[in-house]
Amino acid sequence: MGSFDKEINRRRTFAIISHPDAGKTTLTEKFLLYGGAINLAGSVKGKATARHAVSDWMEIEKERGISVTSSVLQFEYDGFCINILDTPGHQDFSEDTYRTLMAADSAVMVIDASKGVEAQTRKLFKVCAMRGIPIFTFINKLDRDANDTFELLDDVEKELGIATCPINWPIGSGKAFKGVFDRKSESIYTYSDTQKGTKEGETKIVSIHDEAAMKAEIGDEAEEKLLEEIELLDGASSEFDIDLVRAGKLTPVFFGSALTNFGVEIFLKHFLEMTTSPLPRKSEEGTVEPTEDDFSAFVFKIQANMNKAHRDRIAFMRICSGKFDAEKEVRHVQGNKVMRLSQPQQIMADERKILSEAYAGDIIGVFDPGIFSIGDTVCAPKMKVKYEGIPTFAPEHFARVRQIDTMKRKQFIKGITQIAQEGAIQIFQELNTGMEEIIVGVVGVLQFDVLKYRLENEYNVEIRLDMLPYEHIRWIENKDIDVAKLTGTSDMKKVTDLKGRPLLLFVNSWSIQMTIERNNGLVLTEFSRD
Ligand code: G4P
Repeated sequence: MGSFDKEINRRRTFAIISHPDAGKTTLTEKFLLYGGAINLAGSVKGKATARHAVSDWMEIEKERGISVTSSVLQFEYDGFCINILDTPGHQDFSEDTYRTLMAADSAVMVIDASKGVEAQTRKLFKVCAMRGIPIFTFINKLDRDANDTFELLDDVEKELGIATCPINWPIGSGKAFKGVFDRKSESIYTYSDTQKGTKEGETKIVSIHDEAAMKAEIGDEAEEKLLEEIELLDGASSEFDIDLVRAGKLTPVFFGSALTNFGVEIFLKHFLEMTTSPLPRKSEEGTVEPTEDDFSAFVFKIQANMNKAHRDRIAFMRICSGKFDAEKEVRHVQGNKVMRLSQPQQIMADERKILSEAYAGDIIGVFDPGIFSIGDTVCAPKMKVKYEGIPTFAPEHFARVRQIDTMKRKQFIKGITQIAQEGAIQIFQELNTGMEEIIVGVVGVLQFDVLKYRLENEYNVEIRLDMLPYEHIRWIENKDIDVAKLTGTSDMKKVTDLKGRPLLLFVNSWSIQMTIERNNGLVLTEFSRD
């Protein structure tokens, strides 16, 4: 047991996921409001200002109205210290999302009650499911005409394949939305209408066993309907089981309206009780408990040029154990170097705060002089730990990239290498040609635009991208093989990655099979292993 248990145990670190426009930002704003972190809703994302100031290089965000960077928010509420990780909403960023989720202990999934499960919810959910992290569902926008509540639950179960357990239940929807019924306390919570931006209106709590008070509060018709639905619900829904929730097999469901602030605080309260304090992490040496004395963390995200004026690169780390003390030295395991982390900071929506200490569960951003890679471990100098790496997703789109002005070769190589180190793209070279021919691989095609944009704006290099027909990538596991002598199909391409590992590109899966058959003992993998 460490000496910081109290600090660590009150931490809750989670990600928020949703299809764009479901209300993720509005809900986050309301959370912050309860925590007293901001005075007026709206200051997290004053659409054109705060949020975009964080990443002014990402003009594309503005142009396309998507959020491609993720940020971290920390606030206090009811004795808890809460870290919220915002996840990029666009479909092309599943890889970044996956990394962000590596740093979270649970996820809140926001769904629009009039739309149900949408395309992006499905994708993000899949990424959460891959990690097996607990998922809490907030069905939002009940102040608008919503789909039938049972149908909404059915939709989540069928579309996402996870059992649901409503923790509360909406009373009406649209103009008739009055509040929620809390199953645990067997009471209804009704809310008075609040102006956008005010913290809370009046909340009334009435027991459902007090028929007269119920009728007086929500009217005869709504009372009857609610009692009917409760009866149906008790017969039909899954029982609440915290173990199933923690295993990511059952999602507690809450209803409300982030905009009018109905059902937000009751959700936050239940959620904070149900979700966990920072979880232990797997390392090559075994499981590391968050309350261990020694500090350890892993890098889950690297972002360059968050501040154009400074041209800096920030490595985001999730602290896995102990306490971070800015005065103390740490060891970067992969680089085998002892150092002081430079400018440790907490990145809030539009400001950075220099930190002197932080605890397991917290996220810190440190200045990265170009030494960190995604998945790296940083720990107390004497500690022996190396966290399991974050898998690299196999790119599915490839293009040959050339700089238009040949005089700018140096900037081009520097820029493309730095962007690749951040993990936004992967770069490959044709076997034995060095940096002559560069091939870029991405998980989603939007990354090509991002690459082009960033090279132009940050490195002043214009590029041309020629699309290549490859769709499959395989790393070669065999250490003793002469890659030059491999015989494949005519459409196969031999390349090496940034670390010099050989790999093969294929147009279709049939070619992969043929190549394996033609080369005795050849072992191909879809993931690169460090
Ligand atoms: P996102 O981060 O998930 O993309 O969604 P965001 O919170 O930005 O919300 C998207 C739109 O939905 C916003 O409207 C927001 O006001 C609205 N919204 C969020 N929660 C609720 C809710 O509970 N009920 C209703 N009726 N609307 C909600 P907008 O017009 O696009 O932006 P704005 O001009 O209001 O900021």
